[in-house]
Amino acid sequence: AFDIELRRSRRRVTVAPRQSVLEALRGAGASVLSSCGQGVCGTCETTVLDGLPDHRDSILDDAEREAGDSMFVCVSRSLSDRLVLDL
Ligand code: FES
Repeated sequence: AFDIELRRSRRRVTVAPRQSVLEALRGAGASVLSSCGQGVCGTCETTVLDGLPDHRDSILDDAEREAGDSMFVCVSRSLSDRLVLDL
């Protein structure tokens, strides 16, 4: 499990092992659009302010993965204990 901080809305939520970041965010009351749910369409792109995303999408190229400033929350997770998102 890892924690997400929703910086703009000043909320925090823990993402359980079997839960997606998207589900956790919605559970915390955040409205994030999604479509494919499989990391291919790009709809759920979310800006990462801090932490190391574990990219599991099929969209970002290597340089974008390395940059770590954006993630697709329907599939991607976290390598750090905490991710800070611009939500
Ligand atoms: Fe399609 Fe996340 S909903 S990439």
